[in-house]
Amino acid sequence: MTSSIRSRIVGCGSFLPAQVVTNEELAARIDTTDEWITARTGIRRRHIAAAGEVTSDLAFQASRRALENAGINADAVDLIVLATTTPDNTFPATATKVQAMLGIHHGAAFDVQAVCSGFVYALSVADNFVKAGQARTALVIGAETFSRILDWEDRGTCVLFGDGAGAVVLRAEPLADGADPVRTPGILSTHLYSDGRYNDLLYVDGGPSSTQTVGHVRMQGKEVFRHAVVNLAEVVGEALAANGLQPADLDWIVPHQANKRILDGTARKLSIPAERVVVTVDRHANTSAASVPLALDEALRDGRIQPGHLVLLEAMGGGLTWGAALVRW
Ligand code: UT7
Repeated sequence: MTSSIRSRIVGCGSFLPAQVVTNEELAARIDTTDEWITARTGIRRRHIAAAGEVTSDLAFQASRRALENAGINADAVDLIVLATTTPDNTFPATATKVQAMLGIHHGAAFDVQAVCSGFVYALSVADNFVKAGQARTALVIGAETFSRILDWEDRGTCVLFGDGAGAVVLRAEPLADGADPVRTPGILSTHLYSDGRYNDLLYVDGGPSSTQTVGHVRMQGKEVFRHAVVNLAEVVGEALAANGLQPADLDWIVPHQANKRILDGTARKLSIPAERVVVTVDRHANTSAASVPLALDEALRDGRIQPGHLVLLEAMGGGLTWGAALVRW
């Protein structure tokens, strides 16, 4: 769909809980080593939420920073889309909690569930609301306390994840007549996919309707890895082709941070130099829906991403779900 309105990312913020847990600390508790975790995943440490610190707390801090960065008052926000797999409660949506914490009493707030692809899904949903004229200022959040759904006895999963949150502010901006859409700042396109045949490769073995328990993450890591590299390279190729662009046009890739080997494999498949990939997995581990906005915020604040740059966001997670968004800064 072509539209004369486009959404532009005008602010970004993130938040990490204070507590840091290193690989060595995990190795003292379970049968693993710093060498194995570093070699197989690139992860060295992760942040873990404190007792009583919940997803909405992390989301609120990231949102506050994103609004401050945008120079926009919370009052202006008329849509909040929050991606999470670890909501504070089964209901209400964590987005409505953040809405209340920000003192917003109008507009709509809801959660999106696409696990590690959640932020790209939420961004796509909000972008489409903006393009349809149904929202003017949207807050898009990825927030997780993933540590709460880990089986700390399962070394195959518990070493891989961390907690955190990131957020962006979208503003509706008119696309001027005759303007080159690919050169004009804003979200150029989003591309979402899922394939439920692979539910059992990565899932939580509990839930309100099935077991009435929260459950723990279960993953067939090798299989997920294999799908990740193929699906991500495909969806990135599609996002570029949809805008008449080539991999060489990209200034930065901000990928979901699951495993350094997946980042390297995807970049290699697309012939993109590793220096153009934003990497935080070493310090944050896999923060699921929070990983893309956390990495984006880091690259914006340290000045790597500059006005005019072409930035690609991509992610893949349980479902399986995957997607990409192409953004001109
Ligand atoms: O964010 C959503 C998407 N998720 C992902 O993208 C995750 C994708 N998968 C992966 O990143 C990798 O598959 C893992 C990091 C999860 C695992 O790496 P792998 O190279 O596929 O290892 P593996 O699961 O095949 O395990 C190899 C060996 C096994 O031992 P044996 O059977 O060969 O004796 C495991 O028991 O490594 C062992 N192992 C460990 N050893 C020490 C598994 N976890 C650990 C551990 N410490 N933490």
